[in-house]
Amino acid sequence: MSLLVPEPTRETTDPVSAAARAEGFPRLRYMGSKYKLLPHLAAAFDGIGGSTALDAFSGSGVVSYLLKSMGYAVTSNDFLNFPSIIARATVVNQHERLTEEDIEAVTGPAADDRDFIRTKFSGMYFTEEDRVFLDSAWSNIDRMTGGKRDLAIAALVLSAARKQPRGVFTFTDLRYDDGRRDLHLPLRDHFRERAAEYNAAVFDSCTGCEAISGEVFDVPDTGFDLVYLDPPYAPPKDDNCYVKRYHFLEGLSVYWRGQEIMENTKTKKLVKKFTPFSYKRTIEDALSRTFEKFSESTIVLSYSSNAVPDLDTITALLREVKSDVEVVSIDHTYSFGTHATAARRAASEYLFIGRS
Ligand SMILES: C[S@@+](CC[C@H](N)C(=O)[O-])C[C@H]1O[C@@H](n2cnc3c(N)ncnc32)[C@H](O)[C@@H]1O
Repeated sequence: MSLLVPEPTRETTDPVSAAARAEGFPRLRYMGSKYKLLPHLAAAFDGIGGSTALDAFSGSGVVSYLLKSMGYAVTSNDFLNFPSIIARATVVNQHERLTEEDIEAVTGPAADDRDFIRTKFSGMYFTEEDRVFLDSAWSNIDRMTGGKRDLAIAALVLSAARKQPRGVFTFTDLRYDDGRRDLHLPLRDHFRERAAEYNAAVFDSCTGCEAISGEVFDVPDTGFDLVYLDPPYAPPKDDNCYVKRYHFLEGLSVYWRGQEIMENTKTKKLVKKFTPFSYKRTIEDALSRTFEKFSESTIVLSYSSNAVPDLDTITALLREVKSDVEVVSIDHTYSFGTHATAARRAASEYLFIGRS
């Protein structure tokens, strides 16, 4: 028997504790987010091992955070800006927290007289007091750097998301106001609470993590052990545009710098970003190219039985680059529709695991 014990490749954390930690991640209501599937994902990742992981479509950031909690050196990517800022604040950032003084500075007097949000979105989102606060908060955040700046932006974005009915910016009236506290708390108070939530999420995983923002096909492939793919699910009908729903959060995360507003739209939304994952006619080719790009890694893909293409088609596409394809089916109930007409639809959430 050899006395040589192999070097561990990563400080592993058991999947149950890692999922429990990730369940405390500040909750952003986000289309397709995987908060409810964390234990299943943790079990799947645990069976794969390795030390480096890519979360290629990071969204709310909760899966990147789960991977960090499991000890992976994580690269987090999304083609929107605000997911990458959330990932910088919570996954890349290992030590920095907002102090009481930092929070006082952001919620205190404005550092300049900017009024872009107050004037551009007047009468559309939030109260006048809230909009003045958003400009004022940004005037102070612009004087911050590094992890603190990322935490402050993440907290501001989460504040706006929580205060907006249903968390989406596709309408400008209060038709979904059901009296909940989150919808009435001034954004200044939200910010203090959300900053505390993000502060609590900061921990040192002793691994190098990074966050990037770009098209999945442009992610530098550095030979990740594990690649997690959670693209938008191409719906058979209607649309799944992230920019249409979350344009205000995307703009807010960079104070609309470099963003193109469609001025003639009622919601003042940003120009849509094309993604081939959203359409029936382009999804198969997009999946196939993504599998090819990461063919050297173990691939885990989330997909829904509600979407196209179907299970057999995806399995066949993945088999083109992976000899061993396992499918885990998780029963999942989606809520959709408005509060008043809330409906539930049972669907299966698939995890495709492709190994060589
Ligand atoms: C289903 S969501 C990911 C949800 C995430 N796993 C979570 O738990 O919150 C899909 C994400 O893919 C991003 N996305 C869409 N097309 C993309 C592309 N071509 N390249 C990179 N990201 C893309 C969207 O911005 C969105 O955040």
